[in-house]
Amino acid sequence: MTKKTFLVTGGAGFIGSNLVDALLLANHRVVVLDDLSVGKRANFAHHISNPDFEFIQGSVLDMSVVDRLVAAVDGVYHLAAVVGVTYVVQNPLHGILVNSKGTENVFAAAHKYRRKVLFASTSEIFGKSTQVPFKETDNSVFGPTSVPRWAYALAKALDEQLAFAYYRQEGLPVTVIRYFNAYGPRLDPRGYGSVIARFITQALAGQPLTVYGDGQQTRSFTFVKDSVRGTMAAMDFCRGEGMAFNIGNPEEVTIATLAHHIQQLVNPDLEIVHIPYEQAYGKNFEETRRRLPDVSRAAEILDFRATVPLIEGLQWTISWFKDNC
Ligand SMILES: NC(=O)c1ccc[n+]([C@@H]2O[C@H](COP(=O)([O-])OP(=O)(O)OC[C@H]3O[C@@H](n4cnc5c(N)ncnc54)[C@H](O)[C@@H]3O)[C@@H](O)[C@H]2O)c1
Repeated sequence: MTKKTFLVTGGAGFIGSNLVDALLLANHRVVVLDDLSVGKRANFAHHISNPDFEFIQGSVLDMSVVDRLVAAVDGVYHLAAVVGVTYVVQNPLHGILVNSKGTENVFAAAHKYRRKVLFASTSEIFGKSTQVPFKETDNSVFGPTSVPRWAYALAKALDEQLAFAYYRQEGLPVTVIRYFNAYGPRLDPRGYGSVIARFITQALAGQPLTVYGDGQQTRSFTFVKDSVRGTMAAMDFCRGEGMAFNIGNPEEVTIATLAHHIQQLVNPDLEIVHIPYEQAYGKNFEETRRRLPDVSRAAEILDFRATVPLIEGLQWTISWFKDNC
């Protein structure tokens, strides 16, 4: 494989730093741009003496930095974002600005220098659609704009529209991937938006696992090594340009079952309690009942399928939390 140089925005974060590991392992050069608002130096400390690795602390909102870095690389993995529904509900203004304006900057620079971009979108794009499993071409169903919960998905939806507009109008090589609940080593223990991080943190502290609502809502969880493989495949396969891909594991699980698995893996004596959504997210919260990817397009075009079963991924994740948190 030809050695290339990639910019990874958000490369000090959870998925980004796992992606950096995989790119360096594949013998590429990597430049990370991250403002360290959430990302951590510890996530890339093991690469600091590697001549193929460079870290720049800065923001995707700073167009001069984005322009300079994009000009110097072969392709861009754009993962920097204010992530997760909980965080964006708490910081709506900052979240909307970074997730819209920051992405606009990255696309503008990629267009200027004709660089391929891989844009990290989200399964939140499907909103409260009930048409599971979600195909990439299915409708997005959002609630009213008075409900802050939808700000994250709406900003990412605008980003996707911008990606496809650049592709159609200007021929920018861009591929959109929609992650479905990635989890694994380096998941932020504060658990912004990640129910797995929250449950593991609670379990290791000997606290009850708090399930929101009746726990019958479902998600599909994707081990981060699978998410990263799908991400790199989307960059590599030109056939995917101008398209969106679900990068997820089609194993559907209720949140109550997830809590049970983590309880059994950490300590079967732990309590599992249910609390109302309102207590967790405040008034006006709207929940997505089921979220399951249709993975046929990614399999057909990117030759990507998630392979790590949930229990195995949870064991690795719990073990990482024990050693690092
Ligand atoms: N983790 C998931 O399950 C999931 C699901 C759907 C979509 N995504 C998307 O994948 C991407 C990576 O998510 P993650 O889970 O690794 O989250 P993360 O918070 O760990 O990573 C995001 C990184 O972006 C950085 N960042 C934030 N604002 C920035 C700015 N203005 N300039 C530069 N860097 C900035 C943060 O410091 C962090 O390191 C995001 O775009 C997110 O929306 C993730």
